[in-house]
Amino acid sequence: MSIINTVSTPRADLPSLDLMFPQELISPEVSAQLPSDLQIRPLASTDYKRGHLDVLSGLSVVNDLGEVAWVNQFHAMRATPCAYFSIVILDKASDKIIGVGTVFIERKFLRGLGSVGHVEDIAVDKNYQGKKLGLRLIQALTHISESSGCYKSILNCNDANIPFYEKCGYVKKENEMAKYAPERVNNAPKL
Ligand code: ACO
Repeated sequence: MSIINTVSTPRADLPSLDLMFPQELISPEVSAQLPSDLQIRPLASTDYKRGHLDVLSGLSVVNDLGEVAWVNQFHAMRATPCAYFSIVILDKASDKIIGVGTVFIERKFLRGLGSVGHVEDIAVDKNYQGKKLGLRLIQALTHISESSGCYKSILNCNDANIPFYEKCGYVKKENEMAKYAPERVNNAPKL
């Protein structure tokens, strides 16, 4: 796995934000293809207020536990070195998040101690769908996965989204299996 520098360098064109990882890991080619009123960047510790969960709720059940819990999760994810890379697309005028996605880098014993990028939790605000923003999210996450040395990037999706991921250069491989745990007892300790 190549080394990712997790020390963020301040950039004059970006407001000073507490980011999950350095902006430099976002592909400049992908950034350049966005309209000028939008910005693609790493998730920031203040993005709860910018509607991060509102956008994610377009994908699945969110169960919002409040800002403090959200910020704790942000810091726990960032403290895991070179593992979680969550990104957002921001509408600069409204300062609202309109697109989200994550790649999780899994280290393996296989393939000469290789790594795999798991693309997760992709969502674009309904009002902004169909403008290639989903494509830009996938391109940016795949770039992070590949530049961190992953030999493949993978994801699960429903049948309706297969054409979208094919447009992003992904191909269907094998099957997904899942076993959901019995409903958690409230307040059960998290591992
Ligand atoms: N069926 C067929 N083609 C599609 C579909 C679809 N469902 N969705 C997008 N496309 C095509 C577009 O037409 C476009 O094609 P073109 O290049 O020929 O013009 C191309 O795929 C890129 O589409 P985008 O405009 O980038 O897609 P969008 O910004 O609307 O984002 C997304 C797609 C993320 C699936 C969005 O519809 C969404 O947020 N849906 C709800 C949440 C969701 O299902 N997320 C994915 C879950 S899977 C996961 O997280 C790993």
